[in-house]
Formats: sequence, structure tokens, C-alpha cells
Amino acid sequence: MPATYTAPPGPRGGRGTANAADYALDPLGFLTRAVGEFGDVVSLTPSNVLLAHPDDIGRVLVDRGENVVKISDGTRRGPTGFPLAMMNSEGADWERKRARLRPAFRSERLGQLEQAAREGVARTVGSWADGQTIDVHHEMSRLAMLVGAAHIAGREPGEHGEALARAVAAIMRLTSSPRLPAWLPTRVNRDLRRSLRALDDTLAALVREHGEGGAGTALDALLADGPPFAEVRDELATLLMSGYETTADALTWLLHLLGRNPGAVARMGEEGFASAAAKEAMRLYPPAWVMSRETVRPFEAGGHILPPGTVLGLSQWVTHRDERWFPEAGEFRPERWLPGGSGPAHRYAYFPFGAGPRGCVGASMALREVRVIAAELCARIRLEPVDPEAVRPRPALALQPLGVRAVVRTVSPG
Ligand code: HEM
Repeated sequence: MPATYTAPPGPRGGRGTANAADYALDPLGFLTRAVGEFGDVVSLTPSNVLLAHPDDIGRVLVDRGENVVKISDGTRRGPTGFPLAMMNSEGADWERKRARLRPAFRSERLGQLEQAAREGVARTVGSWADGQTIDVHHEMSRLAMLVGAAHIAGREPGEHGEALARAVAAIMRLTSSPRLPAWLPTRVNRDLRRSLRALDDTLAALVREHGEGGAGTALDALLADGPPFAEVRDELATLLMSGYETTADALTWLLHLLGRNPGAVARMGEEGFASAAAKEAMRLYPPAWVMSRETVRPFEAGGHILPPGTVLGLSQWVTHRDERWFPEAGEFRPERWLPGGSGPAHRYAYFPFGAGPRGCVGASMALREVRVIAAELCARIRLEPVDPEAVRPRPALALQPLGVRAVVRTVSPG
């Protein structure tokens, strides 16, 4: 019997263009208001449905491709799609690529990451003067590139670090702004092509200079079976793109929240506290603030049956700030994550790294990096916030913090 499809309720009955325009203006506000007004299953356009209930989020994320897929055949791939990367693959091809990378991200390898993070912080702090005002996001981005690239390639990127950071930041910026078709010789397209070339050249140099391997890094794993450079390039590019900005954003948001909560700063040296603070920062300001899947079968949600080809949106921003799952959801309360704390009231109400088979391969790495860098910074210096009221999230590919500045104050030992 053919399924009867019915559209869930939504702003303007879920009819297209006006909603898309409202979304483009203020995505975080639009999604939050849509759920507040219409409930946990909301039509945003005829083919886009937002799911806000953790039951549905869990069902979508643990699915193994039977009902929903991440990359459907029809997904348009832009010039920066890096189609050969694991992140952009499906089925058996994805499985092979994920198995190849997994060992490089195991927690046994995170001791070296901690070491690199500590050294990175020492050097960064050494470059600051007492009383200097810093752009926190800029500084954390440099640090995250240094530490991240060292973990992925097994050594510090040296002179390539700046070039990588610049190219990745430019690509993220250029691809998150609305663009005309790629073949038009617009300034944005030209800049994008130039940045992609720079990224290519730098990654090629990193691969060329890579030694014998054997350290178990992601780059060792990628080079082991001698794939074509394009595949190594696509994989490295997505690892850097997905790992670097998100980690820098998480760190910056955490430092911003700590700047407003001196009581929490004082506890950063306590067992488990820095980790709880990092989790709480990623609840309030999830770097991945929205994600999607596409249905390949009729999919039931909220009593409605959605047709195949429906794009299901899941928003960490919306669900992480829902009072049903997090009492005092708007407050920074690292204690919720400590043993005996309330945690989330539902397993899938907190998903900063996604979940299920396609959950973030770098989750432990990112958490460890954020925790160690923040704790180390708090032990060495105090960051006095400058105009914290003016700080705003910018929902681009990742949730970027705008306007986080601080004055560096050295902490006297003891
Ligand atoms: C705070 C930092 C990070 C956040 C918030 C984050 C978030 C996420 C999320 C939400 C997903 C799932 C996307 C989906 O299912 O559609 C994901 C996947 C992924 N992440 Fe992360 N990530 C972070 C750091 C990293 C790092 C450090 C790396 C590696 C260096 C990394 C590599 C990946 C890869 C390769 C995938 C794709 C997995 C797959 O398709 O099987 N991420 N990440």
C-alpha cells in the first residue's frame, strides 16, 4: 500500500522561500522560534524538516543507511567538496576509509597530543606580554592548527602551519558566503581557487617531506597503501577543515565563558573539572550547530510520514538549549557533567560530535585538546575579558565566536 505523506506544521505552513530568507538572516533564532512555536517536528520548506526531539535525533543518527543517508547520490558537490574523503563517502567505500583512519584517533595516542598541546601553550603564552590585548579566536586558531597538524602528521607543520591556517580559514570563509556559480570569474571564486591551490601545494609539501612513518599517525595510515595523491589530499583537507576551526571555536567559547565565571576558573585545576567545563561550553556553543541527513525510505516522525528525499535537520543549538533536557539551559554549569551531576536528561539531547556510526572520529582528540589547552592557560595566565557583552555567535560552517578579546595578566606562581 502506498504511504500517505503529510507535512508537519511549520512557519507559514512550511512553504519555501520566505522561510529560507528568514533562516538566512538569523538561522539560530529562526530554528529556535520554529521549535518553540510548532513543536519537535517542524516543516521549514516542503523538503526540509527539523527534528528537535532526542528520540528522533537518536533514531536518525544510529541509522546505518537503511532509512537515512548522509550523502545522497543527488547531493551537489561544490569545488570544495573533497569527494574522495571518508567524510564525504558512503557505504563500503566509507567503511574502508573509516577503518583506515580509526586507529590514528584512538585514545592511546592522545598522550602525545597532550604533550604537543602543553608545548604549544607554553610557546603561545611566551609570545604574549603582560597587559597585552589579544584576539582570543585568532590565537586559539593558531594553536589548534599547530597541535592538530602535529597530531595528524606526526610533527609540527613548521613553516607550513601559517599557510595551512590561512588557506583553510579562507576556504571556510569563502564557501560559507553565498556564491555565484564557480565558473564565473568573480573575486570570491578567484580567491577560492587561489586558496585551494595553496592548500594543495602545502599538503603536497607535507606529504613529500613525510618521513618513514611508523608513528601511527593519520598521515602514516593514509600513505600506507599508496593511494593517489588526490585521495590523500582530500582526506587531509577534510581532517584539517573539520578538526581545526571546530576545535578553535570550542576553545574560544570556553575561554569566553570562563571569562564571565571566575568561580569556574578557580576550579579548572580540579580533577575532572576542565573536562566538564569543555563539555558545557560545547553544549551552549556547539561548533557543529546543525547537521542533516536525507531520507531514502518513508520516515515516520511526530505522527507524520515523510517521503524519501526529505532533508532532516538536527540542530545542536536548539536541542542543547532545551529546558526539558537541561534545567537552567541558558546557564554555564560545568557541574552538570561532574560525577553526581544531572547530565543530560536524555542520551541524545547532547550530540556535539554527532553519534552512531558517523559520529566524529576526532571527538576524543578534540575534547582532550580543548581540556588540556584551557587548563594549561588557566594555570599560567588570567584572561581579562574585554567587552564580553558584545560577543556574538556567527553560525557559519561552524559556530564562530565574534569579538572575543581579552587582556593577558600573568599569574604569580603559588
Ligand atoms: C570541537 C571539535 C569538533 C566538533 C564539534 C566536531 C563535530 C563533528 C560532528 C557533529 C560530526 C558528525 C557529522 C555528521 O554526522 O553529519 C563530525 C564528523 C567528523 N569529524 Fe569532527 N568535530 C570536531 C573535531 C574533529 C577533529 C579534531 C577531527 C579530526 C582531526 C574531526 C574529524 C571528523 C571526521 C573525519 C568526521 C566524519 C566522520 C564520518 O563521516 O564517518 N573532527 N565531527
